[in-house]
Amino acid sequence: MIVTTKDLFKHAYGKYAVGAYNINNLEQTVGLFRGNLGKKAKNEDAIDNTKSAPFIIQISRGARSYSDKRMLEALITSANEVFPEAIFALHLDHGTEEACCDCIDSNAYSSVMIDASHEEFAKNIEITRRIVERAHAKGIVVEAELGQLGGVEEDVVGSVKLTDPDQAAEFIDKTGVDSLAVAIGTSHGAFKFTGKQGLHFDVLEKIQKAIPKNFPLVMHGSSSVPQEWVARINNAGGKLSDAKGVDESQYLPAAKLGVTKINIDTDGRLVWCAIHREQFRDDPANFDLRPPGKIFMQAYAEYIIHKNTVLGSAGQLESVRESIKSQSKDCPCCCGCN
Ligand code: G3H
Ligand code: 13P
Ligand code: ZN
Repeated sequence: MIVTTKDLFKHAYGKYAVGAYNINNLEQTVGLFRGNLGKKAKNEDAIDNTKSAPFIIQISRGARSYSDKRMLEALITSANEVFPEAIFALHLDHGTEEACCDCIDSNAYSSVMIDASHEEFAKNIEITRRIVERAHAKGIVVEAELGQLGGVEEDVVGSVKLTDPDQAAEFIDKTGVDSLAVAIGTSHGAFKFTGKQGLHFDVLEKIQKAIPKNFPLVMHGSSSVPQEWVARINNAGGKLSDAKGVDESQYLPAAKLGVTKINIDTDGRLVWCAIHREQFRDDPANFDLRPPGKIFMQAYAEYIIHKNTVLGSAGQLESVRESIKSQSKDCPCCCGCN
């Protein structure tokens, strides 16, 4: 069932963070759905309610153009039929104004991110406001970004600018945006920190105090870059030196301070890379694409279960389902949703 991120954030706020995972292809999609239902391997595996979780599927502009944007939209529609118990939002990651409008018009997405964080403050407000008006008219929710992360983001290499708490309050007020991505020390990619890693919890705390109560914040660049996956890649011929990510023990403290969406892309790529390198190293005579694909789908599902456990979203799916059901009972509209 596709819902908005707003539905998910209401349930999560202050308790846990919802995992927002980027996908590009079929194997990632299948692994992602299985993992979020607590199913590790085969289709016939029963759903494990102690592990099942609500989640957010993120599609970047790069992913939309990798094959064709309609392919990914069709993939998600099919996955929604194959895994009818799943509850998720479909979200455009780091959208331009043009990409946001395209996704709003497509009727496939329940959420878009307008990323005008590289613009001056007033311009960022102006662009975000335009997208909010257009999206809200169709019941689609909007994430925006204020401040700048480091690392590589789509085709932009960023320089760090932490989010100003007072600007955050003004930005939310003037744009009417539904959630805000803040820069508090994370960065995109596999090389986030040199030396000691550190999120700026002091800045996050100030932001939470300055903005409206229970307003959902988003943390981009939050992959943990697990050292065991980096080692597996390097042992199979890779060359990733000094790769480092966010310490997973920092997810829940961030969630307690209002971070309800945590973005993970790089970790999924590392799992993909390790599995494929190992397969080609260990079975060099095999040129079939399905054996590594099968191993990847299972490994990715297991990784998602692990990630949801550290985010605190594992085991929350049935409670989210109940809360969405009871909200729709209260819905005063005459659309028949209740
Ligand atoms: O923040 C960027 C995401 O990791 C998406 O990356 O544009 O290479 O798909 P991508
Ligand atoms: P990572 O590179 O840390 O996975 O961040 C992904 C992200 O923020 C997508 O928007
Ligand atoms: Zn991002």
